[in-house]
Parts: sequence; structure tokens; C-alpha cells
Amino acid sequence: CGIVGYIGTKAATDVLVDGLRKLEYRGYDSAGISIFEDSKIQVVKAKGRLDNLENKITSLGKPLGTVGIGHTRWATHGEPSDVNSHPHGNERVTIVHNGIIENYLQLKEKLVEKGYKFLSETDTEVVAVLLDYYYNGNPVETISTVIKNLKGSYALGIMFQDCQDKIFAVRKDSPLIVGIGEGENFIASDIPAILKYTRSYYLLEENEIAVIEKDKIDIVDTDGDPIQKEIFTATWDIEAAEKGGYPHFMLKEIYEQPTAITNTVSPRIINGAPDFGIKALTDEILKSFKRIWIVACGTAMHAGMVGKSVIEQLARVPVEVDIASEFRYRKPILNPDDDLVIIISQSGETADTLAALRLAKEQGVHTLAVVNVVGSSIAREANSVIYTWAGPEIAVASTKAYTVQLSVMYLFAIKMASVKGLIDEKETAKLCDDLLALPAKIEEVLQNADNCKFVASKFQNAHDIFFIGRGLDYSLSLEGSLKLKEISYIHSDAYAAGELKHGTISLITTDMPVVAIATQSHLFEKMISNIKEVRTRGAKVLLICKKGTERQADLSEYVIEIPDYNEYFSPILTAVPLQMFAYYTSVLRGCDVDKPRNLAKSVTVE
Ligand code: G6P
Repeated sequence: CGIVGYIGTKAATDVLVDGLRKLEYRGYDSAGISIFEDSKIQVVKAKGRLDNLENKITSLGKPLGTVGIGHTRWATHGEPSDVNSHPHGNERVTIVHNGIIENYLQLKEKLVEKGYKFLSETDTEVVAVLLDYYYNGNPVETISTVIKNLKGSYALGIMFQDCQDKIFAVRKDSPLIVGIGEGENFIASDIPAILKYTRSYYLLEENEIAVIEKDKIDIVDTDGDPIQKEIFTATWDIEAAEKGGYPHFMLKEIYEQPTAITNTVSPRIINGAPDFGIKALTDEILKSFKRIWIVACGTAMHAGMVGKSVIEQLARVPVEVDIASEFRYRKPILNPDDDLVIIISQSGETADTLAALRLAKEQGVHTLAVVNVVGSSIAREANSVIYTWAGPEIAVASTKAYTVQLSVMYLFAIKMASVKGLIDEKETAKLCDDLLALPAKIEEVLQNADNCKFVASKFQNAHDIFFIGRGLDYSLSLEGSLKLKEISYIHSDAYAAGELKHGTISLITTDMPVVAIATQSHLFEKMISNIKEVRTRGAKVLLICKKGTERQADLSEYVIEIPDYNEYFSPILTAVPLQMFAYYTSVLRGCDVDKPRNLAKSVTVE
């Protein structure tokens, strides 16, 4: 989502709409603004693209004030609709919010008991109502009290009706800056929103409260004590700023993975166990499934391949993975009493995947969608849904959407194993802890970017590349190979390492580099044999293994190490260097990284 706020002498509506235009890539489910006009809070909001909001502003008459906040939404809680759009609030307080409030249901229950009524399904409205509930005429005190009650992430722009010469801002785990102008000031979730007006800004730190007037900015702590802040100067142009300073959206999204995984996993672990909060899927029902199907296309299907390995290993339920365009035409034998069909899709709109979902539903099988876009067709039509919270993915080649899909597969596997009694409470809690600690491990992997770039420079002229692996590493290698093909146009193939000798090894020559993924200790000796097989035939090998893996020094020409961590979770960690390898190969070959030829982000044709 995107936030922008303005206080000054210009028409706030124009500044806000202009800023939102620059943030539209961050969310396009709906947009809205709140403006002080005639001492009242005027709110205009509309579902869909920003154009819809502009049309509504034109038809209703443009609010004329000089103070306001605006928002462009990427839906999380509550589908895209007018009523779920931001700003939220009432005649006394109005807010815009980025992030996810994890304890909003508990807070909402308490507020309902106190007689408050809610219009929307959003977590944001709960914050607005809480501000109203605690309001004592002192905005900073009120904001301090409210944020002490919040669990989760937030960047908030806030206006109080009886404080018309100020806007307020506060954040935690979600970015927010305060733009410094002359006779006017701003807030924004991202620099592009305000670049046209100013390049000077303060970076708001966790739980610092900004009190912004048109020619004064105070930043205070939760006790109201002033904080001295450094002024930053933005040097990016608008295009670079949209990409957060990264040269491509793909790289930005690779670096967003730790946050995306935390957002997806952490709200679903309650008291040391996975909890999806899905009423239709009680523990009893989950326990009763005897077979699981995972159906998807492209990268999402590859997430399903890892899902199969991790669910079967831990929960001992057989899993079949199918490509949606095959599944739907091959008369699958489904059993409504025993089967669960999991549909994975980033966009929630892929035509074949949607058709596969409908087919499963027609046959009376319970369908569970794992989807990134709230309110998308697949999310609406499936019997149950687990949203991945990666935020908008702009690059055509999927990265963060894949690793959040993997993290949901893990949560699901842990949940199934625990309801089936295959792991006890302690083991469940340990697995959840390991999953929660993964983002920090990914940060370590991201520090290895230079090595990935170096290896890419060695492989960039190859015509073909093989990816080999066993077990979980094989499931992951399918995605590593796809990433490379999609964006670098180098032909590649992923092969189960043990299967090479049954035909494909005839392709190995000095011109065929091999990426060997070997993170699983129990399979490492076997992988060594396979690596030796290809090296004797002249292949140059990039080995991806855990730090500290004992091996001969000359086992491979190149090596990328991932942190020594619980091997069960290795695909999430190992995906990252594979993405970076593909990324740098594409860059070095001069390809259009974010928009590879012939590919579309969302394929709504069959
Ligand atoms: C397209 C995209 C792929 C994606 C696939 C499935 O082919 O280019 O990156 O994996 O569709 O998309 P979905 O939105 O259903 O995950």
C-alpha cells in the first residue's frame, strides 16, 4: 500500500492524488483521501484504480482544504471494495494505514463490547476506532496509548477533527518518512510520492510520533519528549525511487523476502503452533484428509513440488502435484470424502488454475486457495483461503511470491503433522520457531550477492545449463532452472541427480555447466558421486551447499554457501541465491529483467 499526507497552502486533493499516482504500483485495489474542509473531515474513496477515485472526486466536487491524507491500497484484511478502502474513521478521527495489525480481532471484540460498530472488515478500522476510544484531547498521548495496544506492523497517517492545523504520523516495521517543504510539509510511505515537492525528509523510527504543521515539524517519543532528527536528502530520480533505489523490481522483491515471510508466517503462529483461523477447516476435518492435490501453474506449481516433499515428509499424507492445464483435462480421480485440493496462485486470476479450482469444486472436493491477491477470483471461489502477504509483485519473474508460498506449505505441513499427532507440542513449537527465524537467515544469504554475481559472470555465456539435486533440492532446482530460463533466455533443465545416468548424461560436455544443489546431509554422498560423474565429462560445476559441509577442496569450480540451518527448511534459503544467480545472469546478458520477452505476469487466457 502507499501513504501520502499534506499540510500547506496548496489544494491538498491535488497534491495527494498526484502523490498517489506515483505510488500506484504499490497497490491498486482502491484509493482514498481525507481532507479537512469547512472544519469537517471529508472522505472520498473508490474501489479499483486511482482513475476511479479521480472520477469520483470530479463528480462529487473536489474537497477544497489544504490539509489531508491519502492512501492507495493493496488489500490484506477485507476484499477490495469502497467500504474497505482507506481512509478509515469517523467524524472525529481519520487514518490511513500500511501494514498488518495481528491482534485486530481481539481488539475489535473488546470495542464491540463497548458498543462500537464497524463498517469494514479491515484491521485498519480497528485502529481508527481505538484512537477515537482513547482520545482525550491530547493527540500525542492518545497515539502513544493506542500503539501500546497494537501487535503487528503499521505506518499510520492520522488526523483529528479538533486539530485542524496538524497531521500526525507513527510507524513500526512499515516505512514512513516526513517530507520537509517550505510553508508545507508531507508524509509518505515512499519517496516517489513527494519527490516533485521536496527532496528533504526525516526517516521516522519505530514508535516516534511526528506532529506536522505547515511550517513546523516536531518528532517526539511516546512520552512526548522531543527527538532530534537528522535530515536526509533524496538523490534518486522518480524511476529509481519507485524501485526503492534498486535497479530492477526483481532485485527489490528479492530483498523484500525476509519481510514478506515474516508478514505471512508470524500472524499464523499462535502459542507455538500454526493457526490459519479457517472455520471450515477444523482439526478434525484436516485430520480426515487422506490425499492432497496441489494444482497450479509456473512458479506456483514449483512451490507445490516443494509442498509435496515437506507435507509428505512431516505429515505422512500422500500429495499429488499437478499442472493446472493438465489436471483440468485429464479427468482426475477425486474423492470428496478423502481429498483436499490446494490451489496455489500469486495473482489468483490464472485461467487454467481457476478452471482447475472450479472442476474440483464441482466434484464436491474441499478447495483451499493459497493466493497473494486479496479478493481475486480464485480467492473468492475457493472454499477456504490462506493469503500470502508478499505485497504487490511487479517483476514478471516471481521471487517473493514463491518463498511466501513455500512458507505456507511449511506451516500447512506442520499443522497437518500436529493434528495427526505425528509431532508433539514441543516439536511443533520448535519447527514454528525455526520457520520464524528464517527471515534472519535469508538476510545472511542476501549478503552473498557479490558471489552470486561472480558466478553469474562465469556462466553468462552458456547455451545450456543443468540443475541437479535430490529430494527437496530437486524440487527446488525446478524453480532455479525456470528463473534462469525466464529472464536470461539460457536454456536450462532441472534433473533429479540420480536420473542423469539414464539418458541425460549424454548431453554433458565441457560446454554444459551444472548447478548442483546439495543441502541435504543424508543425500550428500550420493550427490558427490553425481557431481563427479559430470565433472569427469568436462562440466564446470557450481555447488550450492551448507556452510561447513565437509568435502574435497576441488569438488567443484564454484561454490555458494547457505547458512548451516535446519535442512528441512533449506528450499526457502536456497531459493535466494538461485534467484540472484538468474538475476545477475540476465543483467550481464543485457536482458529486460523485469519484463522478459513473451511473458506476462498474469495469464488469463487458457
Ligand atoms: C505466469 C507468470 C509466472 C507465474 C504463473 C502462474 O506464467 O509469468 O511467473 O508463476 O503465471 O501465476 P499465478 O498468478 O497463478 O501464480
